[in-house]
Amino acid sequence: MVQNISHAVMAQRHEGKDSLDDFPTPPWATRALLEYVIKNENISKMSCLEPACNRGYMSKVLDEYFSKVESSDIHDYGFGNVKNFLDDTYEKKSFDWVITNPPFRLAEEFLNKATGVATTGVALLARTVFLESVGRYERIFQNNPPACFAQFTERVPMVKGRLDKKASTATGYAWFVWKLNEKQNLKLMWVPPCRKILEKDEDYDKTSDLKKNKLTNHKDFIQRNLCDGLI
Ligand SMILES: C[S@@+](CC[C@H](N)C(=O)[O-])C[C@H]1O[C@@H](n2cnc3c(N)ncnc32)[C@H](O)[C@@H]1O
Repeated sequence: MVQNISHAVMAQRHEGKDSLDDFPTPPWATRALLEYVIKNENISKMSCLEPACNRGYMSKVLDEYFSKVESSDIHDYGFGNVKNFLDDTYEKKSFDWVITNPPFRLAEEFLNKATGVATTGVALLARTVFLESVGRYERIFQNNPPACFAQFTERVPMVKGRLDKKASTATGYAWFVWKLNEKQNLKLMWVPPCRKILEKDEDYDKTSDLKKNKLTNHKDFIQRNLCDGLI
């Protein structure tokens, strides 16, 4: 059998069962939720919890739109509070919205917990395939379908442990949005191409670029000297 080692396929997310799923979210993908999917929701007066905040890339964007954002994560990445969202740490109905991209293997548990903590809505960024499976149909979608399923038309590249503007991926993503006060028919929509409009230079951490450059320079140095027969 020939193994497919194309960069995009290799970039698919496969994480171990105990993995924290340390995949920071490109900020433009969160702006897309606020600009195209839950726009006109009066959110500038509302509160939001980001319970898997990682290094804060989603929280910082939520802060551009909501009046108050609280952030936490089970692991200390140097941003937000350190809390296990699946423990009894958060009071019921204590935020208007809960918005995050949970670890894929815990997405159902996050959804159940979030619908108890939020009063208005829950939005989860997840792989498109979250929509599949008999188990999830029976446990979630049959009786509690989202109000909106918003499929990204562009790829949303997520790289382990860092943001990388140049990364690629073969994995499709969508926003799954539940409205808690309204009984609605599921709305299927597409997030239009928007990365160019919503991405900002300052979204990307200059220090990680510097580190990458240093690494690249180091690799270049080794390559050059190997070629020259010096090492
Ligand atoms: C895909 S990342 C989230 C990225 C983040 N939202 C961002 O803006 O970049 C998933 C995160 O879930 C966190 N996590 C895993 N299990 C958790 C739990 N039980 N409670 C809270 N956070 C958890 C991981 O540490 C990881 O940071």
